[in-house]
Amino acid sequence: AMAGKGNYRHFMEKEIHEQPEAIAHTLHAVLDSGTGAATIPAPLDAATIPKITIVAAGTSYYAGLTGRYWLESLAGIATEVELASEFRDRDAVLPEGGVTIAVSQSGESLDTLMALRRAKALGQKTLAIVNVPESTIAREADGVLLTRAGPEFGVASTKATTAQLTAFCSLAVALGRKHGRLSEERAAELRRALAGVPGRVGEVLQREAQYQRVARELAHSRDVLYLGRGLSYPIALEGALKLKEITYIHAEGYAAGEMKHGPIALIDEKMPVVVLAPSDGWFEKTASNVAEVRARGGRVILLTDAAGAERLAEKDDHVMILPDVEPVVAPILYAVPVQLLAYYAAVEKGTDADQPRNLAKSVTVE
Ligand code: G6P
Repeated sequence: AMAGKGNYRHFMEKEIHEQPEAIAHTLHAVLDSGTGAATIPAPLDAATIPKITIVAAGTSYYAGLTGRYWLESLAGIATEVELASEFRDRDAVLPEGGVTIAVSQSGESLDTLMALRRAKALGQKTLAIVNVPESTIAREADGVLLTRAGPEFGVASTKATTAQLTAFCSLAVALGRKHGRLSEERAAELRRALAGVPGRVGEVLQREAQYQRVARELAHSRDVLYLGRGLSYPIALEGALKLKEITYIHAEGYAAGEMKHGPIALIDEKMPVVVLAPSDGWFEKTASNVAEVRARGGRVILLTDAAGAERLAEKDDHVMILPDVEPVVAPILYAVPVQLLAYYAAVEKGTDADQPRNLAKSVTVE
C-alpha cells in the first residue's frame, strides 16, 4: 500500500523534506559502525580496479556523473559514465577486471538492466546501486549497495538522488583510503563532513521560503539556463532536468566553461541563469561566467555560500546562501535547492509535480 502524503500537497514535496533521513539512513547503512569507514561491497573490493563504468538513466545518470568526480579525485580510479540506453547497444571496449556500476532508484529501468547485462557479457564484474533491494537489477548484479531513501513515489526523483550521491561519496572515500590515495586524517575529515550533511540539508529546507519566492518568477520564464563547473556541473544538469520534467519549461544545464561555445548567444534579460557556485576550487572561474552573464543583461540566480555571496553579490541578483560545507560534499547539498526551485515553480504553474505528463516513475519498456 502506498504511504500517505501526510500534510504535504505532493509526494515530491514530502520526499524533498525526507532527505535528511534518507541521507542519514544511507550513511548509516554504508558506514561500518565500529570504524566509521564505509564497507566496500564486492566486486569493488578487488585489489586493483583498472576502470569503473557507471551506467544509468535520467537523474540516476547525473548522480553517476557526480560519482565519477569523486571516484577519480578521492580514489584515483579511472571512471566513465554512460547513458544506459547508449551503452547497451554500443561496442564499448572495457578492460579485464573492470567494474560496471548500474545506478537505479527502482532497479527496474529497462535500459539500465540491459546495460548491466551487456557489461556482464563483456566480462565485467557488476555492482548495483539501487533503492529497491528485491529489484531485478539488484538480483542480477554481482554485488549490491543499497541506498536507504525509502519508497519514492514522486515521478521526479529527489530523496533517492541525494541518497545515491551519499552512497557514491562514502564509497569513494572508502576506496581512496583503501588504495592509499587519502590519508586517514583526510578520510576522517570527509566522513565527518558526510555525517554533517543531513543537518545542513535540514537548514536548506528551513529556508525554503526564499526558493519559493524565486520559483514564482522562474515559473513565468520560457527558458532557463543552469550553469555549474566541476562537482556542480552534474547538479546543473539535474536542476534543468527537474525543471523541464515537472514545469514543462525549457531548461538546459551546461558546464559553465562551455557557455562561451553556444548558450551565451541566448542570454538576455528574459532568460534566468541559475548558477551553482559553492566556494570551491572552481569558484573563480564560475565567477567570471557570472560576470559575463551580467554583462549581457542576464538575470542571475546565484546559489552559493556566505563567502561566495560576499564576493559575487550584486543588488539586482537573487542570491541564495547555502550553509558552508566541505566542498567535496557540496553537490549533495546543492541538489536540494534545485529541487525546491523546480517544485515550487510547478506549484506556481499548477502542473502536477507527482504525475507530469508523458513521464513514468520507472521506464520498463522499450
Ligand atoms: C524515469 C524517472 C526519473 C528517473 C529515471 C531513472 O525517467 O522519471 O525520475 O531518474 O526514470 O530511473 P531509475 O529508477 O533507474 O533511477
